[in-house]
Amino acid sequence: MPCTVIVGGFFGDEGKGKIAAYLAMKDKPDLCVRGGNGPNAGHTVIHGGVQYSLRLIPSGFVNRSTRLLIGPGVPVDPTVLLDELRKTDSERRFEVDNQCPIVEPRHKEQESRSDHLSKKVGSTKSGVGACNAERALRMVKLAQQIPSLKPYVGDTVGEIQEALAQNKYVVIEGTQGTFLSLYHGTYPYVTSKDTTASAACADVGVGPTQVDDVIVIFKAYVTRVGEGPLEGQLDREEVARRGWTEFGTVTGRERRAAPFDFRLARRAVQLNGATQIALTKLDVLFPSAKGAHELADLDEKARTFISKIEQETGVPVTLIGTGPAEADIIDLRNSNKPIKAKPLLVQRR
Ligand code: IMP
Repeated sequence: MPCTVIVGGFFGDEGKGKIAAYLAMKDKPDLCVRGGNGPNAGHTVIHGGVQYSLRLIPSGFVNRSTRLLIGPGVPVDPTVLLDELRKTDSERRFEVDNQCPIVEPRHKEQESRSDHLSKKVGSTKSGVGACNAERALRMVKLAQQIPSLKPYVGDTVGEIQEALAQNKYVVIEGTQGTFLSLYHGTYPYVTSKDTTASAACADVGVGPTQVDDVIVIFKAYVTRVGEGPLEGQLDREEVARRGWTEFGTVTGRERRAAPFDFRLARRAVQLNGATQIALTKLDVLFPSAKGAHELADLDEKARTFISKIEQETGVPVTLIGTGPAEADIIDLRNSNKPIKAKPLLVQRR
């Protein structure tokens, strides 16, 4: 509990924003820290009847007593950041690391000009890949050099380490999904960084032994935006018939969709060292689950689906999303529910 990492288990858009917002309200973390990649990521949070689409600010912003940090691994676009700070009224409890690399307009232009990125990979063209590439060449500008960020810049890693030393509760928010990882994903149809829990920790300067829990988030079905393989992809009409049609938070592109993929889920649990699973949008798959707050409120089919995920991955499903708002959730973390998980079998690619 003192240090929890949240990551996406499929191709992004699993509902990390909602889970992070719920944990922020329920567990009242001292710090919510954004790791992961930059403003190519989109997180949707519905709080107090208002929908927020965020690209940089941690989704835990909903708890006004939580401090919000962005770790040094995260590429930052100052225009996006300043706009979100204003929209979420978070200026007075926010810090961005002095070593965050800066996404500049020319990075976006560079990506838009590249047929490889815009056509083959299906990039969001947010300039994040170009920024990361420039950082690898050690030529990128850092947050400490940007006058408009001056009031917010600091040593976030020092603050996180001090909090952990005092046994305070720190939530690290990753971005995108496991299979968009530059290392572990469906290369070249991936983003420009590793997106697993280990990377999110490195992004914010937290070592592997300092982490207590890794929550991997799966949606009840799989979606993917942009190019790249999607096992079991359904045609558009079937996706619409099932009520699974979705659009990207950053680009507005229609997402492709497929049924839940147990093989990918197993692999994601391994790559992230997951200790818990959060399952979102169960109500889209099983409408009778809408708004449920107890396992007992779910019908037999929904409960069988959850058991199957636990059996196939060897990890307990502890949080279940049953509607879009942050409070639509079944929280099993403190229940004595018997978990029928069995040891995980390793599958080779
Ligand atoms: P880029 O990271 O913007 O270059 O995009 C590379 C690939 O990752 C494309 O297929 C994008 O659609 C996908 N991608 C990047 N960020 C996200 C996200 O937050 N959600 C879903 N897909 C994403």
